[in-house]
Parts: sequence; C-alpha cells; structure tokens
Amino acid sequence: MDIRNVLVADAVDEACVALLQRHSIQVDCKYKLSKEQLIQAIQNYDAIVVRSDTKVGAEVIQAGSRLKAIGRAGAGVDNIDVNAATARDVVVLNTPGGNAISACELTCALIANLARNVAAASASLKAGRWDRKLYAGRELSGKTLAIIGLGRIGKEVALRMQAWGMTTIGFDPIVTPQEAQQFNVQYLELDALWRRADYITVHTPLIPATRNLINAQVLGSCKKGVKVINVARGGIVNEGDLLAALKSGQCGGAAIDVYEQEPPTNPVTLELIAHDKVVATPHLGASTAEAQVRVAVEVAEQLIALTGRSPEYKSTSGVINRAVLEKLTTA
Ligand SMILES: NC(=O)c1ccc[n+]([C@@H]2O[C@H](COP(=O)([O-])OP(=O)(O)OC[C@H]3O[C@@H](n4cnc5c(N)ncnc54)[C@H](O)[C@@H]3O)[C@@H](O)[C@H]2O)c1
Repeated sequence: MDIRNVLVADAVDEACVALLQRHSIQVDCKYKLSKEQLIQAIQNYDAIVVRSDTKVGAEVIQAGSRLKAIGRAGAGVDNIDVNAATARDVVVLNTPGGNAISACELTCALIANLARNVAAASASLKAGRWDRKLYAGRELSGKTLAIIGLGRIGKEVALRMQAWGMTTIGFDPIVTPQEAQQFNVQYLELDALWRRADYITVHTPLIPATRNLINAQVLGSCKKGVKVINVARGGIVNEGDLLAALKSGQCGGAAIDVYEQEPPTNPVTLELIAHDKVVATPHLGASTAEAQVRVAVEVAEQLIALTGRSPEYKSTSGVINRAVLEKLTTA
C-alpha cells in the first residue's frame, strides 16, 4: 500500500511521528481541527492517525480522496465509521493490546478502592473530617471476583487479584473451561456466576450481546451488597439499573471509568457519579505514559507494515476490516 504521508490529528505520543519519519513517511500534526477543517485537510493525506478526540465519520472518509488507512492509537474504533471506510476500501486499524496492562492496573486499583473506601475517606479527611468508623472496609482476601470477558485485560486482572487472595470465577464465550483453569479462573455459566460473586468486573467489547449485560435482573440475582466495576465500555452496565441497585443497597458499591456518554451530561449518569458508594474516573484506563507510548508505536508499526517497506514491521494485527486489506493485497 502506498502510504507517503500521514495526518496525525490527535496528540499521539511523539514516538509515532518519529517511527513513521524514520521510514520516510512524511507526517503533519494538526490537532483540534473542526469537522470542516478536517474535511479540507484529509484530501491531502494517504492515512490519518487519531486517538479519541477526532471523529472520523462518513463525510470525512468520503472527502479523503487519497485516503487508504485510518489508524487509532488505542483500543476500539468507536470514533471511526468503519462501514463508511470499508465501503471506500479504506483500512481501519487500532492497537488493542497496547493499553491492556494499564486498563488492568486501573481495574485492580478500583477494586481495592471499593474494598477500603480510599477515595471517599481521602476526600472526607481533606474536607476536615476524621471519620474512621464510616470508612471501615472489608478484606479482599477470600472474596470472589467474577470476571466477564477473559481476553487480554480480564486475564491479567485475574492473575493480579489472585495475588490478593481473591477467588476468581469467569465467563467468556470463546474461552473454554480448561483454558480458564490454566490461569486459575473457574469457568461458570452466567446464572451460576452471578450468585457467587462478591465483585463483578466486565472486560468485554460493547456489542449487542454485551449492551446492558449488567442490568436490574442480573443485579437482583447477585448477593446483596455485590460490587460492580466497569473499565471496559459505557453501556455494558446499565447506568439506571446500577443507580437503583445502589439506592436499594442491593449493590454495595461501584467503580466506573467509562460512561454511556462521555463526557457525561445525562442526569442519571451524573447522579451515579455523585453517589456516595461510587468511585468514578474520567476514562483513565489507558491514560498512562507507558500505554500512550505503546499505542503510538503500535499504530506507526502497523502503518509501516501496510506499506510493505520494512522487513521489521509486518504485523497488521489491529486491522478491523480485514476483508479490505485482503482485497487490496490480492488485487
Ligand atoms: N477504560 C479504558 O480506557 C480501556 C482501555 C483499554 C481497553 N478498554 C476496553 O476493555 C475491554 C476489554 O479489552 P481487551 O483488550 O481485554 O479485549 P479482548 O478482545 O482481548 O477481550 C474481550 C473478551 O470479551 C469476550 N466477550 C465477548 N462477548 C462476550 C460476552 N457476551 N460475555 C463475556 N465475554 C465476552 C471476548 O470473547 C474476548 O475474549 C474492551 O471493551 C476495550 O475497549 C478500555
């Protein structure tokens, strides 16, 4: 694929630019373009790299008369219209593995926070109170963590929380009970899993099968006081149902990094975030120095691999619309 120049439209780590330039690809960084400016600019480039801020919708893709590839430095392609890209034979790729450890570590930090009320107790002390009784917690050791989605992040969360003494149980439609056992996760069907869980953490993509996966019925079938963590995607946990379960006490606490709408303005989401038993972070799962360098390098490596110019970089494992790539490489 002939990629001679790339527009970097979001603040991706400079490692991306450096690697592309080392492979004789010209790079321009133009951040915070309006939709109209992007539609103008895209006409001059063979590829575009974005993080989360820039939306690469159908109009932008159609304006990109030279456009051959769209790279997202991060996991997921929510801000890219993959159908429009596929219709125009534009390859869409992301870097799903690059931030897995960062998302995993935030998940573990949030689980510990829920057990020991770290965020709430710290806010209370900063506000001048000395409330030791209110913030007494529970040990994680001996508790059961249910992990929905045993892919890259789910598996790493299991391994780390086992070190805290948690029993790990889980479900994933493409993982066998034997595979789960290899990393000490007891595989259970969902009905059985809900009944056993003290904590539930979700690590699936947001797809029709996982939208509202954690809902009123599920929460009702859990132990009273179950705690819920979502560092995957907003919409997997139904926000209204979670709020109702927190109010009734059926849910004993929740930690949320991702929301149905970001930044959130919906009153239900805002009430959820403000709830005493909720620890909320503004989509920080991938926000570490290490993950940002890793995803920047991975997106550049894959664009270079598409050009076929490097004996070193050959993997295009983050391509979402593989049929386009196959069509272009066999043409
Ligand atoms: N908060 C953040 O900043 C952040 C950072 C990185 C990743 N993520 C998100 O975390 C999630 C997991 O990422 P990953 O890299 O582990 O993905 P992955 O593809 O490695 O694993 C996801 C797993 O979910 C499983 N799954 C699909 N449908 C399921 C269902 N109905 N029930 C149970 N499991 C199901 C898949 O089979 C797969 O094994 C994704 O949604 C990703 O976008 C969020």
